[in-house]
Amino acid sequence: MTTAHTARPLKVLQLTDPHLMASADGALLGVNTRDSLAAVIDEVLRNHGQPDLILATGDLTQDASSEAYRYFGEQLKAFNCPSLWIAGNHDDSDLLASIAAEFQAEQKQVVQGGWHFVMLDSSVHGKVFGELSPPELAFLDESLSQQPELPTMVCLHHHPVDIGSDWMEKIGLKNRDAFWQVIDRHPQVKVVLWGHIHQDLQQQRNSVQLLATPSTCIQFATGSSKFAVEPLAPGYRWFELEPSGQYSTEVCRANKFEFDLDEKSTGY
Ligand SMILES: [Fe+2]
Repeated sequence: MTTAHTARPLKVLQLTDPHLMASADGALLGVNTRDSLAAVIDEVLRNHGQPDLILATGDLTQDASSEAYRYFGEQLKAFNCPSLWIAGNHDDSDLLASIAAEFQAEQKQVVQGGWHFVMLDSSVHGKVFGELSPPELAFLDESLSQQPELPTMVCLHHHPVDIGSDWMEKIGLKNRDAFWQVIDRHPQVKVVLWGHIHQDLQQQRNSVQLLATPSTCIQFATGSSKFAVEPLAPGYRWFELEPSGQYSTEVCRANKFEFDLDEKSTGY
């Protein structure tokens, strides 16, 4: 007798740029970042249910406070699965790593559901732009060399391509050529995923899908030459990944979340 084997896909949730603060009243351009994260988590549970893995791609906090990191970890307890945290420009990379360890979220690579996930720290202390240090690039190359057969998703905070927005071009990944030289040596990489740009973006580079995702708080205007926000609802990205390397992905928003965005702001 044969039994039909219908392995279900791995469900992966990306949450990015929650910009949490030590104070419960903490707000970014008029949006309370704890409330917007709560609305996004509710939307995930209502719309998709429980994921198998969470990727948290930086700017977890606005103020780099231990209270905000711990608050983030506590909120993720709404989900019954592991998470992986990386730093953004607003984070303190060392503090983030130490608090991530309290929540078992500090791993830099995992294999799950037949996929390999590699998490990179592109943050540079005191700078808004990103850069991958030589050890970080070596880690990427070595990790990818160890798992040549597995479909792979590489995550970082900063955008490694031009996204057609002048003010953001200056604050992307500086040494992107070095990054792509490594990626190009490893054809199993299917997806490069990031945060930072607070907007939904999809591009293709050779066989690699490039994806960015709305923030769980405020959204930057697409294609704007200078800093601008737009009143789109906070959101998240969902993946369903097959061990074959096939996958689907979508961005969803907490459209019922009510907020009063300061649209005239010239910075954040
Ligand atoms: Fe951000």
